[in-house]
Amino acid sequence: VSVLDPRDVIARKRDGNPVPEAELRAFVLGYARGEIPDHQAAAFVMAAFIRGLDVDETVSLTRAMVESGTTLDLAAVARRTVDKHSTGGVADGVTLVFAPLAASIGLAVAKLSGRGLGHTGGTLDKLESIPGLRTDLSPEAFERQVADIGCAVSAQTGDLVPADGALYALRDATATVPSIPLIAASVMSKKLAVGSDLVLLDVKTGSGAFMKSEADARSLARTCVSLAQRWGRACRAAVTDMSQPLGEAVGNALDVAEAVDVLAGRHRGRLRDVAVMFAGEALSRLTGAGMGEGRAAAAGALDDGTALEIFGRMVEAQGGDRRVVDDPWGVLPRAPVIERIEAEASGTLAAVDAEAIGRASAELGAGRHRKGDPIDPAVGIVFRPKIGDLLERGQPIGEVHARDEDAAAACRAGVLGALTVSEARVEAPALVLGWYGGSEAPT
Ligand code: URA
Repeated sequence: VSVLDPRDVIARKRDGNPVPEAELRAFVLGYARGEIPDHQAAAFVMAAFIRGLDVDETVSLTRAMVESGTTLDLAAVARRTVDKHSTGGVADGVTLVFAPLAASIGLAVAKLSGRGLGHTGGTLDKLESIPGLRTDLSPEAFERQVADIGCAVSAQTGDLVPADGALYALRDATATVPSIPLIAASVMSKKLAVGSDLVLLDVKTGSGAFMKSEADARSLARTCVSLAQRWGRACRAAVTDMSQPLGEAVGNALDVAEAVDVLAGRHRGRLRDVAVMFAGEALSRLTGAGMGEGRAAAAGALDDGTALEIFGRMVEAQGGDRRVVDDPWGVLPRAPVIERIEAEASGTLAAVDAEAIGRASAELGAGRHRKGDPIDPAVGIVFRPKIGDLLERGQPIGEVHARDEDAAAACRAGVLGALTVSEARVEAPALVLGWYGGSEAPT
């Protein structure tokens, strides 16, 4: 085997030339094994970000990422299995709700999740705000938990897609996240490494998404679906609205508390709607139930406490404090300073810079500046209004949860600066902009 000089791969991409499969594979596997240092991998992802990757390179990258670790066929799981993944958003705690919800209606969810990336939150960071909860499950423990409880949410450990674990953290620290091929390879490598019967993707678009334009989001959805097709895997992708935070909580512990509220059937709104839509879609695709029937089953499992019960079991199985389901704030870390945010002007909420809100939360400590930085699970933002709502000057619209007064004041200014209030009436944006893929999905 010829020895790869990483500089040759970087230079090819720097100059806009395609990287042959064997070289890309050697580079990615070398990086995952720690043989290629961060600085060379960073140079490569920046070149890939700027120059793009063609279809063949995207397939090669995805394949190399899957090959970097073991794969799981989920043979031990008797139920039909579904995986769901978001391309990243603000107040996007859908997975926390979806995994136990799908399990509560008879499906199984084996989910490899990510950490916060850029201005977006990460499911693993959110879950780890529950004291004791571990996300570094071994492949065996992961599969066993899915077989026993119906759901597990784990990190891509040293054994499962380690190349994504490494590249994901590197991209977060090098401003190389919003690239269609890099996101598609990252998302799909995690989905392809686990043999679920159905993959559902939530491709976000709007101010809080990596894909700001709807056209880019649609293109990302198509790229992910075509990767799934190459692997012969059933996949459906929805393009959904991220022109404002999806739920109300932008942090980590705050998101868990909100998810518990949704799982307990106490909370209505877009977060619940997206979780019910995906769970209903999964049930209907995997069991042949009608779409209306699937959604009704999912809504019922939120309202009758079944989904919350499964969440408690999942938390416990992963080492977390199960009392979080009955009394979230008896268990979750609370920030010392909690300050109200009030509307500065009267009018209709016309637009929200959701990325700015995500960044304001990250600045409080809910996100990272550098690869591997710890995050502060307690801090974050609660932001309640939605586009189209009427606001009155002085009306409470949320809270900042911060370590100190200065951080709270800066964050409040950041949130208020992210809002556009207008005198004209504004319609609430549609939640779902379209679906991709599906004819190959089993029924
Ligand atoms: N989610 C992922 O898993 N990877 C990305 O690159 C972006 C969002």
